[in-house]
Amino acid sequence: MKFVLLLTALLSHVFLLVWATASVQFKFVSFYNSDHNDYDGGCCDDVIGGCDNFCDNYFFVCIDGDDTGPLGTSCDMAAITTEKLHEDNDNFNFPSTIPNAIANPYTIRVDSWSGSMQVFVRVWDLDTQNADDEIDRDRRTIYEAAARNLSSATWQQYSLGSRSQIDFSFEVRVYCDSYYFGSDCSVYCIPRDDQYGHYRCDTNTGAKICYSGWEGTTCNIDVDDCASTPCKNGGTCHDHVAYFTCACPPGFVYADEFCEYDDCAGQPCQNGATCNDLIGQFKCVCPLGYFGDLCEVDIDYCINQTCANNGTCVDRVDGFHCLCETGYEGLLCDVETDECSSSPCLHNGTCHDLIGKYQCACQEGYEGTHCDLETDECLSSPCRNNATCEDELAGYHCHCVDGYEGDTCEMDIDECASFPCYVNETCVNEINGFWCLRLNLCDYDPCMNNATCVDDYPGFICECAAGYGGKTCDQDIDECASSPCLHQGTCTDHLDGYTCLCPPGYGGEKCHSETTECNSSPCLNGTCWDLINGYVCNCTAGYAGVLCQNEIDECASSPCEHGTCVDELNAYRCECDVFYEGTQCDTVIDKPCALRDPPCQNGTCENTNSANDYNYKCTCDDGFYGTNCDIDSKLYGAVVFMIGKLEDKSAYETKLANLLQKLYALHSRVRRDTGETVSVEIILTEDYVKSTDSSPLTKVTFLAWTESGYLQKDTIEAWIDGASTDLPAQYGLDIYKGSAEPFTGNPSENWIGSNWYIILLIVVIVASVVIAAGFIYHKGYINRAKDAVIKYQGRDRGQSALPLNLETTYNTRIGEVDIAHSTRIRDDAPTLPKRPDLPNMVEGEGE
Ligand SMILES: *[C@@H]1O[C@H](CO)[C@@H](O)[C@H](O)[C@H]1NC(C)=O
Ligand SMILES: *[C@@H]1O[C@H](CO)[C@@H](O)[C@H](O)[C@H]1NC(C)=O
Ligand SMILES: *[C@@H]1O[C@H](CO)[C@@H](O)[C@H](O)[C@H]1NC(C)=O
Ligand SMILES: *[C@@H]1O[C@H](CO)[C@@H](O)[C@H](O)[C@H]1NC(C)=O
Ligand SMILES: *[C@@H]1O[C@H](CO)[C@@H](O)[C@H](O)[C@H]1NC(C)=O
Ligand SMILES: *[C@@H]1O[C@H](CO)[C@@H](O)[C@H](O)[C@H]1NC(C)=O
Ligand SMILES: *[C@@H]1O[C@H](CO)[C@@H](O)[C@H](O)[C@H]1NC(C)=O
Ligand SMILES: *[C@@H]1O[C@H](CO)[C@@H](O)[C@H](O)[C@H]1NC(C)=O
Ligand SMILES: *[C@@H]1O[C@H](CO)[C@@H](O)[C@H](O)[C@H]1NC(C)=O
Ligand SMILES: *[C@@H]1O[C@H](CO)[C@@H](O)[C@H](O)[C@H]1NC(C)=O
Repeated sequence: MKFVLLLTALLSHVFLLVWATASVQFKFVSFYNSDHNDYDGGCCDDVIGGCDNFCDNYFFVCIDGDDTGPLGTSCDMAAITTEKLHEDNDNFNFPSTIPNAIANPYTIRVDSWSGSMQVFVRVWDLDTQNADDEIDRDRRTIYEAAARNLSSATWQQYSLGSRSQIDFSFEVRVYCDSYYFGSDCSVYCIPRDDQYGHYRCDTNTGAKICYSGWEGTTCNIDVDDCASTPCKNGGTCHDHVAYFTCACPPGFVYADEFCEYDDCAGQPCQNGATCNDLIGQFKCVCPLGYFGDLCEVDIDYCINQTCANNGTCVDRVDGFHCLCETGYEGLLCDVETDECSSSPCLHNGTCHDLIGKYQCACQEGYEGTHCDLETDECLSSPCRNNATCEDELAGYHCHCVDGYEGDTCEMDIDECASFPCYVNETCVNEINGFWCLRLNLCDYDPCMNNATCVDDYPGFICECAAGYGGKTCDQDIDECASSPCLHQGTCTDHLDGYTCLCPPGYGGEKCHSETTECNSSPCLNGTCWDLINGYVCNCTAGYAGVLCQNEIDECASSPCEHGTCVDELNAYRCECDVFYEGTQCDTVIDKPCALRDPPCQNGTCENTNSANDYNYKCTCDDGFYGTNCDIDSKLYGAVVFMIGKLEDKSAYETKLANLLQKLYALHSRVRRDTGETVSVEIILTEDYVKSTDSSPLTKVTFLAWTESGYLQKDTIEAWIDGASTDLPAQYGLDIYKGSAEPFTGNPSENWIGSNWYIILLIVVIVASVVIAAGFIYHKGYINRAKDAVIKYQGRDRGQSALPLNLETTYNTRIGEVDIAHSTRIRDDAPTLPKRPDLPNMVEGEGE
């Protein structure tokens, strides 16, 4: 199969090379096969399990010019078979040399171009093991016009492929070979100009186009230019290649190839114009200055021209002429004439050009219009002092009389210049002579520093100003030379004087006097004693310190026994505590109850003459308490109920104080860290029973205080009421928080055990009373019970150890006692002096 294709291609080449008139170029561009399958849909290079490899493509291209014969066999233009392009590659561009030594593009020479050709392509997969697989086959007819030549030929793009996955892309261009023309490139034409022909070729058709003067099928016949007898008026025609000439008879001229009548024969043009003969007419070429058909009109050039500087315009044949005013020249009189150009000024005089004239500026010594006259300088009598003047060229010379000199003899000769006098004499110049005068040296101001000069011929005397010395008073006298400063003072010299810097303790102009340091009054509160270079202060009473600047604090020794010391100047004053008197506050006031403001605030005062209780004793009114009866139990007497009888009062006070200390710390946020200790004192105990089972209760009224003062009743009761239940237990207090009522029976041991029936009776009675009270309450009464007798245990304010039992009535309400309290610490609680030791307390009644 391959062999047949190759043979066909070879034969085509040989045949085409001989007769070629056109070239067809075929360019392989690119190929891709996206599914890598062959023409039947199978794999290239089958492997068990699928198409693992791509194809090893090679191509067969058949180009058929006359589109005859069976497909792929009549490849009369070209049959191109490539070798394998790539191994396993279905997507590539073709190189410029395709395997099997095929030039790309591939050029096909044909003897004529029909305008179309058929391209048939087959693609194969090269297999070494078995027969090659055909990948694809496709064909198409392409139509293209032949370009004139290679440089104007353009590539046309085409593609082939029997299915969409395959694209074989190629390009084709067609062009006529040199000297071949026409749409089929079959017309042959070479331009020439020789014995065989005189023509060029039509670029499109290739038809021969004869050069001028030639005709015939090969343009080799000379045309007879005289055939139409062009020479008129009897002229004889002579034929040349592509042109003719006429030989004209007399009276006619040979013009424009023809014999013509000479229209200029009558010399129609005027004013010397040149006549040009034309066919049946003539033309005058005017000389400068004339115009018109016959050049008969003279041009007035002055119409448009104005001569400058008042020049007058004169019309000429070929132009104009300006007649200039004096001083101007040039074609338009626009140039000012340089009158100096002739160098009219003599003797190097300078010429200044003016309009129409000139002016000479003469050199010194010359004058006249052209500097032609020499000046007589002596006319102005320049020589002074009777000198004689002699005129010279551009100058003069003065001949001085004796005693004068200078150009104009203006200077008197200084005869003193030669120092004709003695040194001790002054020379005085005169006209033509001199005098020698005696010399006064003071005229030369020899004395310095404002000294007065006195003439002392032949010398001088300087009378110096103060502070100066020397012959000419030029020296500043050192006033320190005589050591005027005493007591080792340091001398500083000044002009006409000195100053002494004195050692400590001395003063005065020459450090001669001792300093009085006391003059500055350094002692603030005392007498100053002056020493050499110092002083001492003798302080007045009550003051101390080097300068007596400190006032002595007489309170430093704490002289006041019971009072506050107030320091005074050289003294002190005691402000005594209450109930003390005397300069040292060491005496107790004898009768304090007689004071205007007696000590007992809510009680009766009694003078006692005992220092232990400040010589007085207060018997407090009901509800008041304290040394001075100043504690209102309504405000400060807090109440708690304890279960059972109060056995050990002081132990209970300690426990209660511990509990309050804890509560105080809990509630008094501000004072928590002050570490103030709470103290408790029981002031009243009363017997109560529980309202529920009538078991015994003790109502304990107590005072509590810290260093700062008493704690308020309301506050304490609120604390206790709000305390967590474990807190009282933790501190060993059995505080009762239920309902209670006053105890009315007789106290007895084992009362509950031996009198259970009585308890039952009481319960019944209480229940009845409660029902009755409830009934009454519901009727709107506020019923008061009969007065209950309770024992109030006041205390004496002193150390008398005498219990004071006061019987008093205390109104209370039947039924339950409400012990709910408000919680607030009063900030204005009274601040009291530290409480004295507590007296012994009487034990409670129910013991
Ligand atoms: C090629 O053909 C074009 C179009 O006819 C023409 O213009 C050009 O001069 C030609 N070139 C040559 C080298 O003959
Ligand atoms: C004068 O000037 C006019 C206008 O510029 C021009 O047409 C004319 O030829 C001139 N005449 C001459 C004589 O130059
Ligand atoms: C031209 O003439 C007028 C009138 O005589 C005169 O006033 C003028 O100054 C002249 N101009 C020049 C440039 O001489
Ligand atoms: C004019 O000047 C020239 C050059 O400065 C000098 O040589 C000549 O002597 C001068 N002539 C007169 C007449 O001053
Ligand atoms: C010039 O001469 C006259 C007459 O001889 C005389 O009177 C006069 O004083 C002289 N002047 C001077 C400046 O010499
Ligand atoms: C001035 O000096 C001269 C020369 O030294 C001397 O002879 C003369 O006596 C002096 N005159 C006086 C007045 O001293
Ligand atoms: C000289 O005296 C004048 C006027 O009294 C004074 O202004 C000046 O300072 C003095 N000069 C000296 C060097 O003393
Ligand atoms: C003590 O000195 C002070 C300050 O100088 C003064 O104000 C005060 O009066 C003096 N006291 C006496 C008693 O002189
Ligand atoms: C200090 O003054 C007091 C009273 O003025 C006097 O008695 C005493 O002598 C003085 N002391 C001295 C050291 O002078
Ligand atoms: C208690 O004493 C104070 C101060 O003396 C007084 O103002 C007040 O009225 C007294 N209270 C009673 C109830 O007497």
